[in-house]
Amino acid sequence: MRLGVMCSGKGSNFENIVRTCKDHEVVLMIHNKEKCGAAKRADKLGIPHCCIKMVNEDQIIQLFKAWRVDLIVLAGWMRVLSKDFIDAFPDQIINIHPSLLPKYKGLHAIEQTFESNDTLAGCTVHMVTEELDSGRILEQSAIPIEVDDTIESLTKRIHREEYRILPLAIDRYAKS
Ligand code: GRF
Repeated sequence: MRLGVMCSGKGSNFENIVRTCKDHEVVLMIHNKEKCGAAKRADKLGIPHCCIKMVNEDQIIQLFKAWRVDLIVLAGWMRVLSKDFIDAFPDQIINIHPSLLPKYKGLHAIEQTFESNDTLAGCTVHMVTEELDSGRILEQSAIPIEVDDTIESLTKRIHREEYRILPLAIDRYAKS
């Protein structure tokens, strides 16, 4: 598959996809902050990327159509996409979220998990629909919260699981 990736931050999942998903090709990465980690990683990896600061969804739609992407991966994209955007790529957008959905949708999911009395944290890859963090689940992984966990140690383990399940979800999507 030809993958389009959208990032707003560090881009560690983006880099992991490029390095791990050898059966697929990341053809374009869109970000919304000029000097974000994702942009630096794209330069290092030689992946075409484009910064769209005043997020202009029509422009993003045109770019992904021009690059003939089969699947769009939201890997830390921190904005809600409009119905028009989602309709432009029916059943072709997935997102990685750092919680055991349906728990803790939206922002600060890891903090919300950490402050709860839950014994399990997790991460989820799901189809993107109009309703935030609510589409069909493709992959999910539960991570026990240890008594001596800090937000940093928990975040690290969640990220490690994200690097495992996002490529799995992309493969699962490709085979479906
Ligand atoms: C990940 O934790 C992902 O679940 C969330 O944003 C974070 C992105 O991290 N949606 P990175 O930019 O891939 O390092």
